[in-house]
Amino acid sequence: MNNIDVLLGLQWGDEGKGKVVDYLTPQYDIIARFNGGPNAGHTLEFNGFKHVLRTIPSGICHKDKINIIGNGVLIEANIFMDEIKGLEDKGFAPKDNLFISRKAHLILPTHRLMDAANEKAKGDRKIGSTLKGIGPAYTDKIARTGLRIGDLFAQDFQTKYENIKNSHIRAVKSLGYSVDEFKIEDKTLEQYEKLWLDAAQQLKQLHIIDTEYYVNEALRQGKKILAEGAQGTMLDIDFGSYPFVTSSSTVTAGVCSGLGVAPQNIGRVFGIAKAYCTRVGQGPFPTELFDQTGDMLCEQGHEFGSVTGRKRRCGWLDMPALKYASMIDGVTDIMLMKIDVMDNFETVKICTEYEIDGNKTEKLPFSLEEKITPVFKEYKGWMQNVKSVKRFEDLPVNMQDYIRAIEQMTQLPVTMVSVSPDREDTIIRN
Ligand code: GDP
Ligand code: IMO
Ligand code: MG
Repeated sequence: MNNIDVLLGLQWGDEGKGKVVDYLTPQYDIIARFNGGPNAGHTLEFNGFKHVLRTIPSGICHKDKINIIGNGVLIEANIFMDEIKGLEDKGFAPKDNLFISRKAHLILPTHRLMDAANEKAKGDRKIGSTLKGIGPAYTDKIARTGLRIGDLFAQDFQTKYENIKNSHIRAVKSLGYSVDEFKIEDKTLEQYEKLWLDAAQQLKQLHIIDTEYYVNEALRQGKKILAEGAQGTMLDIDFGSYPFVTSSSTVTAGVCSGLGVAPQNIGRVFGIAKAYCTRVGQGPFPTELFDQTGDMLCEQGHEFGSVTGRKRRCGWLDMPALKYASMIDGVTDIMLMKIDVMDNFETVKICTEYEIDGNKTEKLPFSLEEKITPVFKEYKGWMQNVKSVKRFEDLPVNMQDYIRAIEQMTQLPVTMVSVSPDREDTIIRN
């Protein structure tokens, strides 16, 4: 029996997972998403082509590879069918090699209303949700009131749908809002529901299977599978900067529950990390920069949300958080992304410790909302353009030193260094 390899984000999402999955896909037979839903935006770039994926795995542009959406993923029918169409318009045939779990939960239009209402009710303490209905849909899953893809085929689907929809409407009203206050993609609930129900019918025509059997049988047959995570470890429901997190297991353990793979069948774990940090949405961010340096990272890194276009907050690399994430995920390899973004910095910094109440610690406190003063170590910049460099030895010495410092602190190998958004600009180290 083969093991399943895992690829996931070690920070607050948007680390560059999409690029790496697309790069690694030729080495695998199957790519499988295990968590999240259309809150994700995974960008692929090759041959001058750029595409952002939401719920569909990032192996989809390789037509001879199977892509799986596991039970741990949420599907919003209308967004999903739009995503299929977007790929078809660009000449891909995603319906052929995409398999969806019967057990994956559906995001209903009213989950999105509830997301908006919950956020409004939170006021200053809002999460900064992507408003795709993620929190409410996972809440229904855990409350055992959700609808799954398999339910689309039930005779009484419409009744079940109406019941749950009405309970959502009551929930919105109980917060003191009227349904008409919220729009979904600029549409009223009624308008959006029409699109969603129509898309749900189209969705039924796709390959809907028991992905847990498929995945385990494939591993038994010696097939190579890569599990693709969404979001990042610091957004995990258990280990992230709670309550400013997403509602799924973004960590390696999420692969077991989100695809139905046993823990002993987890293979290598590729932890994707930017050479600095970003965060989009609200919530604590210990190394955040509020000065020109932060602006420069944002500018050079084009740090705007792949889907929402929201400006991403930027800061230096956070080593306590990176080490924590690597521990929780059992990372075997770090893949370091976007280091080229720091090409024009005289100096770069790494936060090695947190100072809290006058005490220094390398460990994350219970709440990242505590007053944390990051302790930085400074490194010389390389002041050189590294895009298109193909070998590690050809990278500027100062950059090599920066990468080795990360290896030394994490006690993990940096096996990939990414120097541009393009598939080609990727350095593999032996
Ligand atoms: P994901 O959610 O982890 O897949 O990441 P996103 O796609 O949301 O955001 C990463 C952004 O950085 C995308 O626009 C990528 O095209 C881009 N990107 C990925 N790797 C690199 C890199 O090494 N250098 C630069 N400059 N950009 C990169
Ligand atoms: P990828 O897969 C970055 C953030 C949101 C918000 C919080 C909760 O592209 O890395 P949600 O909509 O899940 O209820 O939002 O999590 N968030 C992400 N940030 N990348 C993502 O995905 C994200 N998915 C959710 O901004 O702060
Ligand atoms: Mg993203």
